[in-house]
Amino acid sequence: MNPSGGLFWHWHAWRHQAQWADTCDDIALWLREMPASPSSPAASSKSDELLILGASAGWMMSSDWLQGFARVTTFDVDRWAAPLFRLRHGAALRASGTTLHCHTADALTQLDTVLQAHPRALVLLDNVLGQLRFHTPSVDEASARIARIAKHLHGRRWGSVHDAFSGRTLRKPGAGLPAMQRSLQPARMPEGRAPARAVALGRFSRQLQAQGDWLDHLTDQVFPTGTPVHHMAWAYRPGYCHWLQAGWVAA
Ligand SMILES: C[S@@+](CC[C@H](N)C(=O)[O-])C[C@H]1O[C@@H](n2cnc3c(N)ncnc32)[C@H](O)[C@@H]1O
Repeated sequence: MNPSGGLFWHWHAWRHQAQWADTCDDIALWLREMPASPSSPAASSKSDELLILGASAGWMMSSDWLQGFARVTTFDVDRWAAPLFRLRHGAALRASGTTLHCHTADALTQLDTVLQAHPRALVLLDNVLGQLRFHTPSVDEASARIARIAKHLHGRRWGSVHDAFSGRTLRKPGAGLPAMQRSLQPARMPEGRAPARAVALGRFSRQLQAQGDWLDHLTDQVFPTGTPVHHMAWAYRPGYCHWLQAGWVAA
């Protein structure tokens, strides 16, 4: 059983497309801020290659953005991800002359091999880092694993959109979501992450009318200090919201 993907995720994402549209618009705005490829000539209309890790069927991104690449390569452990990604985006990518390769494989335990096979690609961790606490036996191991992944990406052009927190909310289904917010990734606090984390949690969760304790997805140290970070609300299902963070890191 895949705790963050699989048939349940596809069914849930398909069913909530209308309710998630505002969040997908926020993600689309952020995606367009990706760092430029140094190798693409200025006159070229296409970027080189995009490597998406945890792509699933690309439920929360538009074909339109993907069409801006010459090649798109996806990885997901879920066996339904590749056929559904092709179903959702394949025709548009064929129309734009974008080559698509979808792999069913664990991209994170073999991250070095995957990165070496795609040395110039822009790397997108697509809502996967915040799920690792469900794929890893302990919270400490999950935190260490996330830190290792971020370290492996050093020197690459990469970005990630991931859960920061999630939990119950008093927000009524259909009520407007708080607008996307921006901040810079703060420096690590010498006394540990708790104080900065508590302030951050208060800032956005009040606007989402958070109820009870929210789940920390252990992603507070993903980005290097000073990275511009976007904060987005995601009404995952009635009565339950996620707070997403997204950022790009230039090589
Ligand atoms: C929340 S879903 C991502 C959604 C996807 N980005 C979308 O918009 O449809 C998280 C995905 O990460 C995948 N995943 C988890 N661990 C992975 C790994 N080690 N390598 C590749 N994919 C992984 C899961 O199978 C799942 O499809």
